[in-house]
Amino acid sequence: MNLLSAFAYLLSSVFFVFGLKMLSSPKSARRGNGVAALGMLIAIVVTLVDQKILDFTYIVAGLLIGSAIGVFLAVKIQMTSMPQMVGILNGFGGGASTLVAFAEYLRLSGDPSLTVWRGGDVGLDILITIVLSVLIGTVTFVGSAVASAKLHGIMRSAPILYPMQKQSNAAMLLLILLLGVFFVLDPSRWYLLILIVLVSIALGVTSVIPIGGADMPVVISLMNSYSGLAGATTGFILSNNVLIISGTLVGTSGIILTSIMCKAMNRSLANVLFAGVGAEYDPTVQATAQRTVIRYTAEDAAYILESAQSVVIVPGYGLAVAQAQHVLQDLVNLLTQKGIQARYAIHPVAGRMPGHMNVLLAEANAPYDILMELEQINDDFQNTDVALVIGANDVVNPAARTKKDSPLYGMPILNVDYARTVMVCKRSLNPGFAGEDNDLFYDKKTMMVFGDAKATVTQLVHLLKK
Ligand code: TAP
Repeated sequence: MNLLSAFAYLLSSVFFVFGLKMLSSPKSARRGNGVAALGMLIAIVVTLVDQKILDFTYIVAGLLIGSAIGVFLAVKIQMTSMPQMVGILNGFGGGASTLVAFAEYLRLSGDPSLTVWRGGDVGLDILITIVLSVLIGTVTFVGSAVASAKLHGIMRSAPILYPMQKQSNAAMLLLILLLGVFFVLDPSRWYLLILIVLVSIALGVTSVIPIGGADMPVVISLMNSYSGLAGATTGFILSNNVLIISGTLVGTSGIILTSIMCKAMNRSLANVLFAGVGAEYDPTVQATAQRTVIRYTAEDAAYILESAQSVVIVPGYGLAVAQAQHVLQDLVNLLTQKGIQARYAIHPVAGRMPGHMNVLLAEANAPYDILMELEQINDDFQNTDVALVIGANDVVNPAARTKKDSPLYGMPILNVDYARTVMVCKRSLNPGFAGEDNDLFYDKKTMMVFGDAKATVTQLVHLLKK
């Protein structure tokens, strides 16, 4: 590689680092994305010009097909399905690493039919990284596909548990490592690499199915980190510095995000990965509970809101489904004009992806200074007149505090039940993502205002304007 390419790679790595840094604040996040994308553009152009691996016709054809699929998916995708999309994209990163590792193995073998191994002088380091890339890439691809299926509702989001789960996962990992050692000792045994892929596929499935719905944020960010690690190992195989650097950045920032998610949900990473956190959702429990809730109208809610001095709004996944963020901000503006203190309380795992509520509310131009994080607002609920819960459920479910067999148990929640009045806007009594019934709805001070969030909030705005 000549000096100019090395310098361009260094420059793109610097752009990645600065882009990542800028993502840490909502104000600079958009520019950060642009800076990192510029870094990626430089890296791609330099790689294409410098490496001369392939005929450009293949690259252009790949670019056109990939871009067409990407544009189609991006246009078609609903905002609420974004987490599944992110999950799948992580998976593609892993899948690509497996394919590149395989292709490089075929190239190094010197004989595409694999009947003879001619690549005698291939270093041990390259062979080891081929095994690691295939292992991490395949687990990432399959694990992300399972996580996406759970998020999409194609698979049940409840944990799937069976006896000796941890032990069998550990045995599979051991088997892969053993196969890897035999492969490295004699790289002409190509079938060992195929076996590694097959066992990694099984490991990808069995390591994600025991993770319950509520713990999905941790899995998604972990898969994101794995996809980076897979990319970095591929970088070692190809001796490509920028791939090593960018893969490592994704891997480490993914691990940091995973640990933030674990902290937010009060989980230990080892527990989420190996213990199958959470219990099965049992609908019969709900059916026999026979409790009643009091149904209120939007008029009742508007009356209470108007006489409040402080209102804390808790948005959740239903806000995204209903696309009610703009009208909700109109409501906040109206309350503020009337001299009522109105703020948002943002739970770190509200919605279906990290920062989901921040993104939605930024779209509606909600001022950053009224977006309160869990630690900032939780002690304020006891001095709050109205906690207005819009399309949120798990993040305000008191079962997280008390019910030991609940999938939510141990997760910090927003203490809306400490407010003087709680208003919940949702369409039914259905449970949230974790499948856990919510006692908050049956609390005496809770007003249930049933209906679509956008329709209800629009009605509230209309009534408060009168
Ligand atoms: P959920 O617990 O999923 O509850 C959302 C509620 O919104 C549902 O109970 C639903 O009730 C209501 N809803 C749906 N459509 C609506 C509409 N059009 N109008 C009004 N309400 C509507 O959401 P949450 O409280 O935000 O909690 C998030 C959950 O997702 C947590 O368990 C979290 O662990 C998990 N999760 C989070 C992430 C990230 S990173 N944020 C990723 C994956 C999973 P009705 O059907 O009765 O309306």
